[in-house]
Amino acid sequence: MASPIFKYMACLIIAGLVLSEPLRAQPDEILLNHSKVFGHPRQNPVRFSHGKHMNDFDCLDCHHRYKDKTNILDKSELEEGSPAAKCTTCHNPGSNCQLQTVFHQLCLGCHTQLQKSGRKSGPRLCIDCHPREPFAIKGGL
Ligand code: HEC
Ligand code: HEC
Ligand code: HEC
Ligand code: HEC
Repeated sequence: MASPIFKYMACLIIAGLVLSEPLRAQPDEILLNHSKVFGHPRQNPVRFSHGKHMNDFDCLDCHHRYKDKTNILDKSELEEGSPAAKCTTCHNPGSNCQLQTVFHQLCLGCHTQLQKSGRKSGPRLCIDCHPREPFAIKGGL
């Protein structure tokens, strides 16, 4: 028979696994670097504090799959590596919605709207998102 302390430990471990699983599945910091898709790296990649934005907003404020103009995306599909979480699955130079336009529309659209309503917001100047010197974090999507 397992001792009470052992059972207690086992519960903690299981609780830990359950609680940490959803958090581990999403990146905290993303270097947005689609220069291969753009085919014209005119601007440096953009550092995006995904985790911070994730805490402040709903996943479906940014991620979507539209059907009859309704966002029907299931949040549980949003996992690292999943095509549902990748903007380029649907927005790329070959599609109607140009990638650069939709990124600016999403990021700047929200920052501008919040700023106008006098709330805490994010940057709107080119240089604040596209630094002169590339960010020193490795990777990219
Ligand atoms: C403020 C906008 C925003 C919010 C809110 C947001 N995301 Fe994201 N997320 C993005 C952008 C932009 C990317 C980069 C996608 C790309 O490069 O194609 C991304 C990427 C991801 C990726 C990584 C895709 C990959 O394989 O690298 C996952 C997983 C993800 N998001 C899940 C979530 C979940 C779950 C939530 C809610 C808890 C959430 N996101 C909230 C904008 C957002
Ligand atoms: C499953 C396909 C799909 C994925 C994945 C996707 N989009 Fe879209 N997106 C669409 C469609 C379809 C529209 C609507 C286009 C229209 O009606 O003209 C759209 C519209 C938009 C718009 C216009 C405003 C709005 O919400 O209607 C923005 C901005 C946008 N997408 C940004 C993004 C970003 C950023 C990502 C990645 C985090 C992303 N999209 C992922 C299909 C997708
Ligand atoms: C739904 C609204 C919303 C969207 C969409 C959004 N942001 Fe933000 N962003 C914010 C708010 C609010 C802050 C201020 C957060 C704070 O200071 O606590 C912020 C802050 C920032 C900052 C500066 C501080 C930090 O946390 O890094 C950067 C850089 C940034 N956003 C980049 C982006 C990029 C890039 C995108 C698009 C991929 C984006 N944001 C989309 C609302 C948004
Ligand atoms: C809130 C953040 C933000 C601001 C402010 C911003 N951008 Fe961007 N921009 C992005 C993101 C995110 C992308 C997509 C980057 C990627 O995934 O490679 C992008 C992509 C681009 C691209 C296409 C990629 C390339 O290298 O050719 C150009 C050009 C660009 N931006 C120019 C500008 C200019 C000019 C301004 C100022 C008028 C500006 N941006 C302001 C976030 C921003």
